[in-house]
Amino acid sequence: MKVLILAGSPHVGGTTALLADEFESGAMDAGHKVVRFDTAKLDVHPCIGCYYCRSNDGKCVYKDDMVKIYPELLTADAVVLSTPLYYFGMTAQLKHTLDRFFAVNPKLRESSRKLYLLAAGNDTDDWAMDALKAHYYALCRYLHWEEGGMVLALGTNNRKDLENSEYRKMARSLGASL
Ligand SMILES: Cc1cc2nc3c(=O)[nH]c(=O)nc-3n(C[C@H](O)[C@H](O)[C@H](O)COP(=O)(O)O)c2cc1C
Repeated sequence: MKVLILAGSPHVGGTTALLADEFESGAMDAGHKVVRFDTAKLDVHPCIGCYYCRSNDGKCVYKDDMVKIYPELLTADAVVLSTPLYYFGMTAQLKHTLDRFFAVNPKLRESSRKLYLLAAGNDTDDWAMDALKAHYYALCRYLHWEEGGMVLALGTNNRKDLENSEYRKMARSLGASL
């Protein structure tokens, strides 16, 4: 299987990067191919809703780093969204990338993939990730993709918190279970 990880944190060595590392190791140990992008380090313009893509065969008006992501996205069997919780949702950097899926919506919806969610946040309230989870379920439903699973690391404000938690193992097992 080919796995595409879209990492959304500006901290490339941070909490969610470690969750993504674990997922990646689990997947690779199980024989899968993994491609990963740090969306916060890429030049990805926010969608401006111009609908150029709709009359230009799914081509976006912006020729930015999405040109590297599109081919990997379209050939991936599984997509992993990895993000710190920012104001109870994903980071803007990851959302920019996600919004740009719009250009290739028809292609994405016609072939099923699995979607995974890895997230970390400082809050410990059991409802803290509810909005993010609802978004994940809506994406699966809209795209006709299978819900692969999620690891939601509550109470992890930094990499150290995560290193000492069970969430690490959970991310690795999820990657291995693809
Ligand atoms: C702008 C901003 C917004 C945040 N919002 C939340 C939040 O709504 N809930 C929460 O639990 N943690 C919140 N956090 C904490 C981060 O989610 C947390 O520190 C996370 O572990 C960072 O992961 P990273 O190292 O992968 O970036 C916020 C942090 C920042 C900088």
